[in-house]
Amino acid sequence: MTFSKASCSSILRLYLIIVSCIAFQCNADHNHTSTLVIDASDGSGRPIPNTLFGIFFEEINHAGTGGLWAELVNNRGFEAGGTKVPSNIDPWTIVGTESSIVVQTELNSCFERNKVALRIDVLCDYCSSDGVGISNPGFWGMNIVEGRKYKVVLFVRSIGPLNMKVSFRKAAGGQILASSNIKGSALEVSKWKRMETTLVAHASSSNSVLTLTTTQKGKIWLDQISAMPLDTFKGHGFRSDLVDMIVQLKPAFLRFPGGCFIEGHRLKNAFRWKDSVGPWEQRPGHFGDVWNYWTDNGFGYFEGLQLAEDIGARPVWVFNNGISHTDEVDTRVIAPFVQEALDGIEFARGTSTSKWGSLRASMGHPQPFDLKYVGVGNEDCEKLNYHGNYLAFYYAIRQAYPDIQIISNCDASVRPLAHPADLYDYHTYPNDARHMFSNAHVFDKTPRHGPKAFVSEYALVGDNQARHGTLLGAVSEAGFLIGLETNSDHVVMASYAPLFVNANDRKWNPDAIVFNSNGAYGTPSYWVQYMFRESNGATFLNSQLQTTDPNSVVASAILLQNPQNKKTYLKIKIANIGNNQVNLKISIKGFGSSNPSESTKTILTSEHALDENSFSNPKKITPQQSQLQSSGNEMNVIIPPISLTVLDMFR
Ligand code: AHR
Repeated sequence: MTFSKASCSSILRLYLIIVSCIAFQCNADHNHTSTLVIDASDGSGRPIPNTLFGIFFEEINHAGTGGLWAELVNNRGFEAGGTKVPSNIDPWTIVGTESSIVVQTELNSCFERNKVALRIDVLCDYCSSDGVGISNPGFWGMNIVEGRKYKVVLFVRSIGPLNMKVSFRKAAGGQILASSNIKGSALEVSKWKRMETTLVAHASSSNSVLTLTTTQKGKIWLDQISAMPLDTFKGHGFRSDLVDMIVQLKPAFLRFPGGCFIEGHRLKNAFRWKDSVGPWEQRPGHFGDVWNYWTDNGFGYFEGLQLAEDIGARPVWVFNNGISHTDEVDTRVIAPFVQEALDGIEFARGTSTSKWGSLRASMGHPQPFDLKYVGVGNEDCEKLNYHGNYLAFYYAIRQAYPDIQIISNCDASVRPLAHPADLYDYHTYPNDARHMFSNAHVFDKTPRHGPKAFVSEYALVGDNQARHGTLLGAVSEAGFLIGLETNSDHVVMASYAPLFVNANDRKWNPDAIVFNSNGAYGTPSYWVQYMFRESNGATFLNSQLQTTDPNSVVASAILLQNPQNKKTYLKIKIANIGNNQVNLKISIKGFGSSNPSESTKTILTSEHALDENSFSNPKKITPQQSQLQSSGNEMNVIIPPISLTVLDMFR
């Protein structure tokens, strides 16, 4: 068969139209018209659990170490290189020449659980005026800000008197931003001694280092060197700017500390809570072998409980159940692990005279923490010993703490569990936005008897559509969240994952909050969560959406009260994942006349589906609020393509 030039070009045109229609899922009708009918009459609707939306903090992507935990020193106890000495002291570096200083690790710390210390031999008789010593770059640079104060604590021993300069510098050998001298007589420092100084910065740099230098010949041992800003959140050691971002989400709960982090690739590298409590300088730290970095465990079990309390969220503690990614404890010998979990609950809830409660009290929190939820493992349901191990944990915890809600790793959304549980953990990470969006219906048919669902991890992932956090991914998640609200008689808790990423260590993409040493921004997924932050405890209203494109548009309506002025208002959320604008007719029954001047429309959208926020343009995709024109009980609203729209209407 042969084609003329003209017919070839019209075939090509037709082909292009078909291809672009497939790519952009277009319809003959470019602008859809849909109708949303909402029943807001008195007594209609049902309460959304006040636990529905929370957050999940995992030690992944340097979220805690070098992130939320404000400690500036990386590998503060020289433990990261292992216990076979001499060991690697990375990322510490030496200040001075080979002929003036020798540095090596030794196993002679005063701390029993972390024996590695650093020995410094200062060889120079006439050292340079800058001195010799060591320098630490923190986690991709320390953020030192003019006027801010920093507490430096270190443990030191010396042969001969000590005179050591502690300073923050712009870079190794660079401008001094703050400094102070630590001094001790030969007698004072002949045994390990804790020294402390406060540095006040007189200049700023987000890429600073901490240096410890001396000009005196001699032998010095150093260990557990910490530098903390004084202005942490509630003085509890959390980086304030990052906590502020999570507070804005009004999370009902904080699940922590993992994720795979609590499992470990090998069981010997799983997170164990007992190694993460007590005085920070005595904690052994550990190498998290799933996300592949060392943690000093500054952000430990206590700090997770404290953070939850500080942000007004319920703690959800996930512990290891004797199962890692590659090895498992047999159920016949699981009892010590069960005891470890019971001890952990006692640490959180026991009286200040109980064995583990007294340790908590000694850390400054005599009152029990409000721990009511525990997760038995993470994503372990299919493992050989999960069922047996789970039952051992379940019965022991149920007996000792009948009010604690116990969360199973096994999915009960389709078939009933083979074991008792209060909640079941559900994770979903699709890499197709339409799939994520259609997950809105995943719980529609789940039987309502049996344990409730905790969607503790959800996100669109993948390099095609989610990347480092796209608008498309966020809108697909918004559709999913509308489905969770709709099914919130069964889904009682949900959290996005992961929460944080240090931009210098992207182990997992995308994430809700991106940060570096001195800044942070929310990805579009963060802003979607922000736009759902009022749902906890609201009234879910019956509504019907009539649309020609149910795979692209979903909506929900909730009724809530403004806590300040006690006014009732209606919040309507519409997620549109299609490439077409939707002309939405809204009809509201039983709401009374709305106050048009106060009504607002908030839209999260952007020019392109794959647009992202970044450090250079952190607010490219953020909710934009405007007055809702022609607001009323019957109204027409334009819903842009690929968007989440929130309408707030006041009585
Ligand atoms: O959120 C990142 C990881 O995804 C979690 O550690 C794990 O639970 C899941 O596989």
